[in-house]
Amino acid sequence: MGRDRDGSRGKATPMKLAKRLDCFEAYLGTAMNLILTRMREEGRDVINLGLGDPDVVPPDAQRRALAEACLREDHHHYPSFYSPMPLKEAIAGWYQRQYGVKCDPETEVLPLLGSAEGLFHIHTCLLDFGDTALVPDPCYPAYVAGVLIAGGVIEPVPLLRENGFLPDLDAIDPEVARRAKMIWVNYPNNPTSAVATPEFYPRLIDWARKYDVAVVSDNPYSEICFDGYCPPTFLQFEGAKEVGVEFNSLSKAYNSCGWRVGMMLGNREIMAAMSKVKSHSDRGMFYPLQVAAMAALNGSTDFMAERNAMYQERRDTIVQALLDMGIELGNPKATFYVWACTPRGFGTSKDFCFKGLDEIAVWMIPGSMYGKHGEGYFRIALTHPADRLAEAMARLKRFMS
Ligand SMILES: Cc1ncc(COP(=O)(O)O)c(C=O)c1O
Repeated sequence: MGRDRDGSRGKATPMKLAKRLDCFEAYLGTAMNLILTRMREEGRDVINLGLGDPDVVPPDAQRRALAEACLREDHHHYPSFYSPMPLKEAIAGWYQRQYGVKCDPETEVLPLLGSAEGLFHIHTCLLDFGDTALVPDPCYPAYVAGVLIAGGVIEPVPLLRENGFLPDLDAIDPEVARRAKMIWVNYPNNPTSAVATPEFYPRLIDWARKYDVAVVSDNPYSEICFDGYCPPTFLQFEGAKEVGVEFNSLSKAYNSCGWRVGMMLGNREIMAAMSKVKSHSDRGMFYPLQVAAMAALNGSTDFMAERNAMYQERRDTIVQALLDMGIELGNPKATFYVWACTPRGFGTSKDFCFKGLDEIAVWMIPGSMYGKHGEGYFRIALTHPADRLAEAMARLKRFMS
């Protein structure tokens, strides 16, 4: 509400908000959390299968490092007071050990306040007003909002089941490709849980070179994989650093969603652009978080095998339960999401999921909330204890029958 000339609050006049706010939706999770909280306050036992936030804790050494670093009196200055190099070196070392990727910590690595921060600012680095971005459909909604807030124009790239939910690069109109400044890729994929084939990245890199398009690879699920499968990483492939960057994060790999610790690696020109933007948008990461992130990245990754075995067991239970209900779906090799076809007779994916929420208090995300081509699917997250998942499946079975 505005103020009258004398400074008093008189009759309400609408605030003159920016028009760009009208061109994107608020983040889905925030709105849904409000609805689910209200349902819980009304006494309903809601199971939120929408939330992709691990129900297990970060490794001990990481938590201890944070606690100890917080207790030190000299760790509470602006983060720019401390050299970022040790964390950059820890990130570079982690990428080298996990994926065999070599990056110069000084010029090819940047810590982020969660990869979501980078996902947002990358558009400021790559797009001028009216520039085209190729965005997969369905996709993690932050890509769409980020492009639109930056004043960019979205050209959707359909991810279809018949293509293994990979973009069909040959189907992108060469005119559109020439116009595009960037393309988003995200494998292992949210929401479809698809993974990239070994041929995909070399083809993508050739295509990006041909059309002079920056590749932005979002890879937060690189460590969540099953059945002995190790997902390939964009930066592993020759020429990747010439054409693009990759985001990763401690959120899923180290069960640390709340910590907001992410990273960006790759092309040094994009890295310098992002550093410039970040020099205004924040003052870096809280130093104790940097210390704890270093403890995590330099520490053992042994805990991941046990954690992934747990997700794998949950995946098996859910996949079998859905198949038993007659629901069509694939068997995900990575991510902690199950992407399944909306059962016949329940209307659209939104009809199915909201009716399910209403009748059995189980929240699953309608595929259409990730884009037009997500219609006909719904997504379940495996980040819940086995007994809650079993309870959700029992309720779903009742609902379906
Ligand atoms: C595909 C994808 N990218 C990025 C993010 C955000 O990750 P972070 O917690 O590092 O900001 C998520 C979170 O769910 C995601 O699914």
